[in-house]
Amino acid sequence: MRGLVIRPAEARDRAAIRELVTEAFGQPAEAGLVDALVADNDVVLELVATHEGEIVGHVLFSRLFVEDEAGRFAAVALAPIAVQPRRQKTRVGSTLIENAHMLLKDRGETLSIVLGDPAYYGRFGYAHDRAAGFASDYQCEALQALALGEAPAIGRLVYAPAFSGL
Ligand SMILES: CC(C)(COP(=O)(O)OP(=O)(O)OC[C@H]1O[C@@H](n2cnc3c(N)ncnc32)[C@H](O)[C@@H]1OP(=O)(O)O)[C@@H](O)C(=O)NCCC(=O)NCCS
Repeated sequence: MRGLVIRPAEARDRAAIRELVTEAFGQPAEAGLVDALVADNDVVLELVATHEGEIVGHVLFSRLFVEDEAGRFAAVALAPIAVQPRRQKTRVGSTLIENAHMLLKDRGETLSIVLGDPAYYGRFGYAHDRAAGFASDYQCEALQALALGEAPAIGRLVYAPAFSGL
């Protein structure tokens, strides 16, 4: 979409983000998750897409740990992502994810995990094969991982506490 601007979410965006995420999912649960992750300080990266000043897309990456006997490895979880219904399928979601991956890599993040449709996330490099070795209550074909650098392929995934409220 022409005129799309991607920028970090700011404190003044909270109400607009809540409205957008609720509208995109058709229910308030995911917007509640966003608020809880922010309140808990578990956000690693939160971006919004704006068009003529209006927020039309949002993505959040929260801290997730891969734990084993040796310790824990810091990774990120992509969730949720939302695009205003009338702007969907115009690459807003793709632009948000591609920008986020560049920023995360620049910051030294090496592993991103997502639970979602492989037909969508596969296009960004996420693969179930890369996540198949992780122990998780969410383990299934929809659990996918993207390595942005050196990262473990086994261990238990520990999501931010806000996810247990979903
Ligand atoms: C999923 C979502 C974020 C995608 O954002 P978007 O801006 O519409 O997607 P893009 O324009 O970047 O990509 C569009 C492509 O992805 C496909 N796509 C969109 N949503 C998809 C989905 N849920 N599953 C599979 N493919 C999907 C489209 O068919 C299109 O494919 P094409 O390029 O082959 O035509 C958006 O549709 C949305 O907000 N959905 C409601 C909330 C939601 O389900 N979030 C994800 C939870 S895991």
